Amino acid sequence: MKKIYLIGIGPGSPDYLTVRAINTMKEVDVFFFLEKERGKNEDLIKIREEILMRYLSEGTYRVVTAKIPERKKGGKTYEAYKERVETWRQKKAEIITELIKTEMKDRETGAFLVWGDPALYDGHLEILEHIAKEGVVNFEYEVIPGITSIQILTAKHKIPLNRIGESIMITTGRKLKEYSTGEVTNAIVLLDSCSVFKRFQDTNIDIYWGSYLGDEDEILISGKLKDVIDDIKKLKNEAKKKKGWIMDTYLLRQPEETNE
Ligand SMILES: C[S@@+](CC[C@H](N)C(=O)[O-])C[C@H]1O[C@@H](n2cnc3c(N)ncnc32)[C@H](O)[C@@H]1O
Repeated sequence: MKKIYLIGIGPGSPDYLTVRAINTMKEVDVFFFLEKERGKNEDLIKIREEILMRYLSEGTYRVVTAKIPERKKGGKTYEAYKERVETWRQKKAEIITELIKTEMKDRETGAFLVWGDPALYDGHLEILEHIAKEGVVNFEYEVIPGITSIQILTAKHKIPLNRIGESIMITTGRKLKEYSTGEVTNAIVLLDSCSVFKRFQDTNIDIYWGSYLGDEDEILISGKLKDVIDDIKKLKNEAKKKKGWIMDTYLLRQPEETNE
């Protein structure tokens, strides 16, 4: 039977791969790279190439690159967003099915190098589950966990993810819009292209922000949101212009003494 690995590669630098990920990569016959149309994720492909060059011997594996369609923009409601993601995932599933069918021989091992950890805001697991259920192609799959952007954020800011006895919410910019200040004690926010933290700028909340975490261009800012918000907005704009893309993650945390 064919076997697919989803290998978590950490968020941005070949230094954050686990020993388990490296050893698994050594068993892989073919790595699948999914490239966005119009070459939008060139840097992210480059990091994957660097990983293969650093940890594997040349000539011991193949790389197959496939183009994936852009996700359509559209209606702003959650339902419209969910539908767009599902349509896009369906297209991705068709492409991956074809790759497994045509680019792997029986008993071969294939892999996707997944940004950060495959269980955190990443669609590969659900797509593989869907393909396996459809039964068009026969394969088994396994997940190799990776270090998440959240772990690099807390490590670099030297903060615990949880304070004693408190809970933590992990959410997206889109969902953060639904929460009032009182409902946010500790919130980790990913996928926030609209800087939704702006809606908390008149409160006493603290922010621990990081972009390009783990990369040489990493930027870290922390403090009272109202004091550092202009710096974050400015650096975010400048960095995005310079590199053409940005990924940022942050923790919003109520100060312990007030818990407002
Ligand atoms: C589709 S999610 C994937 C998360 C990934 N699976 C992980 O474990 O970190 C992409 C979001 O993760 C966060 N992210 C991923 N890599 C990052 C990095 N190097 N620096 C800052 N944030 C990052 C950003 O919020 C980005 O919008």
